[in-house]
Amino acid sequence: MNGVNVLPGLSVSGTLFLAPMAGYTDFVFRSLCAEFGADLCYTEMVSCEGLSRLNKKTAELMKRGDAEKQSAIQLFGVNPDSCFEAAKNAAALNPDIIDFNCGCPVPKVVKTGAGAALMRDHGLLKELVAALKAGTEAAGKKIPVSVKIRAGWNAEEINAPETAAAAVEAGAAIIGIHGRTRAQGYSGTADLEIIRNVKKAVSVPVIGSGDLFSPWDVKRMFEQTGVDAVMIARGAVGSPQIFMQIKEFLSTGEIRTVFSDEEKLRTARRHLRGAVAAFGERRACKEIRKHLCAYSKGIRNGTVLRNRIVRCATLAEYEEAFDGFFQSEGIGP
Ligand SMILES: Cc1cc2nc3c(=O)[nH]c(=O)nc-3n(C[C@H](O)[C@H](O)[C@H](O)COP(=O)(O)O)c2cc1C
Repeated sequence: MNGVNVLPGLSVSGTLFLAPMAGYTDFVFRSLCAEFGADLCYTEMVSCEGLSRLNKKTAELMKRGDAEKQSAIQLFGVNPDSCFEAAKNAAALNPDIIDFNCGCPVPKVVKTGAGAALMRDHGLLKELVAALKAGTEAAGKKIPVSVKIRAGWNAEEINAPETAAAAVEAGAAIIGIHGRTRAQGYSGTADLEIIRNVKKAVSVPVIGSGDLFSPWDVKRMFEQTGVDAVMIARGAVGSPQIFMQIKEFLSTGEIRTVFSDEEKLRTARRHLRGAVAAFGERRACKEIRKHLCAYSKGIRNGTVLRNRIVRCATLAEYEEAFDGFFQSEGIGP
């Protein structure tokens, strides 16, 4: 469980990362996770087509949060020229890792040949990884390219170890592996044996992903797979504090810091205000709802708060919903 040493002369420190999640891991959320101990956070996936043209939206996706000391920009694409240009543009922002998405199961992405479809076309995958690497070098940077894969296309086509080996052959310096197949989406369970087989198949650092919802899950992932680092995904939504608890558990064997409902909700309010400041009230109030609902899970009378949150459309309405709940629960302002 040492820091993931990536390339000679370059290193990514820490073993506990925030996984990329489209629609969730914007810089406000990443910054909160970093504050609570995430060593490195991944951006949402950024289109190589858009980034190669320096599209305005991609700049916002790659923006770094104040508390983020290390960052990974995740790209997706299928065209070598766009991948080259996109990596060059991403490298100019000095991320610690440029990650390539080879696991997205969404039909709109897979239909173009990108995301998980690349697990079925190792020739193209190698070409794209080489283009990404060349792009970072063209920017005069030595930024490691990582590749994030799934277990395989479906239960009949489990080829993560071969895909990982192909990516490394083309120059990938790290492999991220989510132990589910494309066909599974986010259902079923992540297969730790496949993750272990990927770790055995390559000599570069491997980052494990899948079903990491508690410190115990993380410990099991490290012990049963031998991965060098892990990335937390859904387990961090509504619970950025999880990083602090995992770190405590891994270093001391126990969790001393327990977050009260009040502390969780104060973090939720900070998240809300940060999103409004970053994205404007209208947009933030729409996009933040799923996060706030997640914060309300597991707290006493959380359904009461949730029923209020789902009806809010302005910052004032959200603040009122929280104030009302704080009052009814006897929590100070
Ligand atoms: C809403 C959502 C969005 C995701 N978006 C991405 C993405 O953009 N890129 C990616 O590589 N993985 C993405 N993932 C996959 C996660 O990074 C992670 O590998 C997966 O959720 C397994 O971890 P978990 O079971 O702990 O959630 C996404 C997952 C979720 C739930």
